[in-house]
Amino acid sequence: MTAPLLEVQGLTRHFAVKRGLVFSRDAGVVRAVDGVSFRLDRGETLALVGESGCGKSTTARLVLRLIEPTAGTVWFEGQDVTAMTGEPLRSLRKRLQIVFQDPFASLNPRMTVGEILEEPLIVHGIGDARSRADRVAALLGQVGLAAYHAQRYPHEFSGGQRQRIGIARALAVEPSLIVCDEPVSALDVSVQAQVINLLKDLQRALGLSYLFIAHDLAVVKHMADRVAVMYLGQIVEIGPAAALFANPRHPYTRTLLAAIPRPDPHRTHVQAVATGDVPSPMNPPAGCRFHTRCPLAVDRCRTEMPVLGAVGDGHSAACHRSAELPPLDAETAAASAPAAARRLALYAARRAEALATTVSATS
Ligand SMILES: Nc1ncnc2c1ncn2[C@@H]1O[C@H](COP(=O)(O)OP(=O)(O)O)[C@@H](O)[C@H]1O
Ligand code: SF4
Ligand SMILES: [Mg+2]
Repeated sequence: MTAPLLEVQGLTRHFAVKRGLVFSRDAGVVRAVDGVSFRLDRGETLALVGESGCGKSTTARLVLRLIEPTAGTVWFEGQDVTAMTGEPLRSLRKRLQIVFQDPFASLNPRMTVGEILEEPLIVHGIGDARSRADRVAALLGQVGLAAYHAQRYPHEFSGGQRQRIGIARALAVEPSLIVCDEPVSALDVSVQAQVINLLKDLQRALGLSYLFIAHDLAVVKHMADRVAVMYLGQIVEIGPAAALFANPRHPYTRTLLAAIPRPDPHRTHVQAVATGDVPSPMNPPAGCRFHTRCPLAVDRCRTEMPVLGAVGDGHSAACHRSAELPPLDAETAAASAPAAARRLALYAARRAEALATTVSATS
């Protein structure tokens, strides 16, 4: 087996929380990420999915070494990221880039798009003023924008266009892995499809790998080769996307699947994601962390923490009752299938539109 591009083992980050402004004292520890392990191969997209607060962004920041882990290791291109300093860390910043959820907040409003895209090139000492200007124009073209957009400011663009700028900035230094932290969560569904298509096209053209973070399984279905489902700081199921969608082996994955919007016009609401609130990561439940919301919980689940175990080829789940789970309930399977088909049709339509625009823009 060849070495993976990225390998994360036992990754853990606890945040100490203080209370009181004057006499601050320790109020406890938030277990944001608690023993997360996964690998990501070259050219692959691994999706990291789970409800808000389950530790997705903290995992992303640990992988990028924007924060230090409490425990665990991150290996990238054969090097231990957690031990890097100096030049190796600088060069890591070129090979590993991030696209944020909110492009407006992550683009400097006082800089033109050209300056924004040139900045990483200057920071890494790439090229001279002339070659950098050419590179900026090429980057704009790669993300479906025009060279004259370089003179404009971020506020002059739509949300989808701003995310294209965020992607162009990540591409500037020719990374091998891009961490996409909910890159489409703030966008309309039709614009989401355009941005996802762009990411897929760029992946094919440039051989990129993605760690793609989302809270919506529907988005991930057309993007991911493999999916890791997170709950309260831990991975509860991981496997090839096709196997995980067709045969989810963790009750939490099933509730996420059931939450995919349904196309039935008579059903106006989106089914809730599991019942009850997510418990606090400061005080996670004993045993299986999902037991307070799991319809299948038994006594054992309240005392004994399940570990990830193989349930199929490259497919693992952490549930005591995984083997007992009946086939995916027909309603959920049926509900997610047309919803997915609808999204696919939408993607195809937007893609055709985008291609038509590119042709008319260049002709
Ligand atoms: N700097 C921090 N200090 C304290 N708690 C934090 C910090 N960053 C994140 N957290 C907490 O860690 C948990 C995971 O957060 P995050 O990784 O942002 O989740 P997600 O991206 O899945 O929504 C949350 O409970 C969040 O409040
Ligand atoms: S271990 Fe028990 S509580 Fe946890 S997901 Fe499985 S059945 Fe539910
Ligand atoms: Mg987040």
